[in-house]
Amino acid sequence: MANTGLKIWLLLISFALSGCLMPDPPVKIGSTSAQTQSRSISVDGAIADHWHSYVEPIVQEQCIACHNANDTLNTGLSFQPSELNQTNENLINLLLITEKTTTLNMSASHPQPSPKEQSYFEEFEYYSALYWNWQSQIQTARSQANGFFDRHLEADIIQPVCTGCHVFIGEDQQTFAGDLGFYEYYVNNHSELNRQQAMDFLVDHQQADLLYSKAIGMDHGGATVIRPNTEFSDLLLQHSLLMDDVIQLMTSPPY
Ligand code: HEC
Ligand code: HEC
Repeated sequence: MANTGLKIWLLLISFALSGCLMPDPPVKIGSTSAQTQSRSISVDGAIADHWHSYVEPIVQEQCIACHNANDTLNTGLSFQPSELNQTNENLINLLLITEKTTTLNMSASHPQPSPKEQSYFEEFEYYSALYWNWQSQIQTARSQANGFFDRHLEADIIQPVCTGCHVFIGEDQQTFAGDLGFYEYYVNNHSELNRQQAMDFLVDHQQADLLYSKAIGMDHGGATVIRPNTEFSDLLLQHSLLMDDVIQLMTSPPY
């Protein structure tokens, strides 16, 4: 499931990259569906440098004849011609292949790359392995924060306290209180939706302790809604430590 979500997300990125307004990494794409996650990932840095210097030229010269948008051979792998300037899309498409296989299995019927070219592909595999390992660490950290949210925040803090003001009104996701909105208990999957709201909000703001600090009244439009140094403020604090792991990881690509 998680992998499917990521794949969809990566595809979204590749579409977004076809525009020219891409900010510097980490690139953030918000998903419109509350059930799929929005993530921050980076395919910049060393992996992109390597790609552009060594892999992309080979792809343009030797691969695109078969692996193109038409994909008449049904290879499931397509590359864009460089004129379209979507070379990160090419990178991502090859990266997606390595999620399943870790190595790029080019069958014998493939044009055989020279040893030097082969070594460039191997280096790409190495970066890919780092990438997928990093993603799985992020996934683990997110699951931990989400699990904690489900067990300790949703029923005891979010529903009884925060939804008093941080609640979505109407279709366009307006709230009474800033950008942070939650779903009330009568909404199906409210816990899942709310943990996602909290996750996205904290990741967007890159500030793991924002639920905690606002709740205890630090610069909060709702004043103090959870007294500091209580069981409940402790739960928010513990959640912020888990969120800190998530944000740290997401903001430190392995290359
Ligand atoms: C002559 C046509 C042709 C060329 C040129 C070609 N490929 Fe392929 N490629 C295929 C076909 C057909 C498949 C699917 C069947 C197979 O694996 O042989 C494939 C499959 C692949 C796969 C496996 C995809 C998967 O889902 O696991 C990878 C990776 C790949 N190609 C990479 C490359 C790279 C990199 C180049 C350029 C160096 C390249 N190919 C050049 C025809 C080609
Ligand atoms: C009495 C109403 C009220 C309650 C209850 C309330 N808040 Fe707020 N909250 C506000 C208002 C108003 C703002 C907007 C002003 C601001 O940013 O402080 C806000 C803002 C926030 C923000 C910043 C949102 C943004 O857009 O930057 C966070 C985070 C937050 N609250 C967390 C919480 C948490 C966690 C709870 C439950 C423990 C909670 N609040 C309960 C009224 C409330």
